[in-house]
Amino acid sequence: MDNNQQFISNVEIKEISSFKTTWSAPSNIALVKYWGKKEIQIPCNPSISFTLDHCRTTTSVRFERLAEQPDYLPFSVHYDGKPATSFEPKIKTFIDRILPYTPYLKNYNIQIDTINSFPHSSGIASSASAMAALAAAIMDLEKQLNPSMNLEDQTKKCSFLSRFGSGSATRSVEGPIVIWGEHEATPQSSDLFAICWSNAADVFKSYRDTILLVDKGQKEVSSTVGHKLMNNHPFAKNRFVQAKANYKALLTILEKGNMDEFNDLIELEALSLHAMMMTSSPSYILMHTNTIQIIQKVRKYRKETGLHLTFTLDAGANVHLLYPAHEAKKIDQFIESDLRKYCQDDELIYDRVGTGLKKV
Ligand code: DP6
Repeated sequence: MDNNQQFISNVEIKEISSFKTTWSAPSNIALVKYWGKKEIQIPCNPSISFTLDHCRTTTSVRFERLAEQPDYLPFSVHYDGKPATSFEPKIKTFIDRILPYTPYLKNYNIQIDTINSFPHSSGIASSASAMAALAAAIMDLEKQLNPSMNLEDQTKKCSFLSRFGSGSATRSVEGPIVIWGEHEATPQSSDLFAICWSNAADVFKSYRDTILLVDKGQKEVSSTVGHKLMNNHPFAKNRFVQAKANYKALLTILEKGNMDEFNDLIELEALSLHAMMMTSSPSYILMHTNTIQIIQKVRKYRKETGLHLTFTLDAGANVHLLYPAHEAKKIDQFIESDLRKYCQDDELIYDRVGTGLKKV
């Protein structure tokens, strides 16, 4: 069993006065959803995700060594070169949570400059990619301070730290298919960090994810609030049982390369997530009329053509269309002719499964 102790770093072999590093981390889309958590950021059920490629956050961090340790941790955040004070509370919570594992941070002033490849107001949650990119920069500093750390430990701790910023960020470190959360079917998986799962058939390693931007605004109810509503949810217990069963079933489907079974399970997971929102107290609906229109059209198209187009949803109105690369030509035409019109300002993002963090 993994425990937090293994991630505490007390070694500062080298003293570094100034260090700047830049990392790019992708977003990810869950296939089996993480919905419901225990403190701090421990999932109530295991999840599986596709790591994306084009939707990324790039973050530069400059660490300047302080003459003496202050009582508070000095940091600043810029987005696209401009001060971004609205990001500060989330980053402060993140740093406070990771300090027991990264005590060396207390010696530094931290300047963060970040930017997303996708439009800031696109309704796409940027916390996963943002927190993973920031954690990667911090782990790069740790590597400078302790050069004997190997890449495997650096990657694992990066995922571990990312989790404290946002649960789903833990899955944005590696790719193309990632698992997070304990389950007897994957004895190597952990609640504390995510790992790559490499047994999937090749067809799933080049899958497309086209994101239809149905609503580019901020969500009415944040994921963090949604997770909390699972605490007293009348269906929570059954949902966790269902998610665990779907996790195991999806591993087999991915291994076999069975796209028909994949479609059925992925859509069931997406709609089960939204069913939890609709039956929370208070109840809420994040899907829009256009979300439903797209779902109906996707199902009709699949029935008529036999092509493997399916959808999933995160905690919002946007629709992620998943399909194999070898069917992309025809499906992209259908998206252009029949689905783009349901997007706000006709905007969508063509993305695909990717490999995770990149040092810039
Ligand atoms: C529906 O990771 O955004 O996208 O841990 O509170 O930051 P916090 O929540 P977050 O929740 C993600 C929920 C989801 C499903 C998923 O990504 O597994």
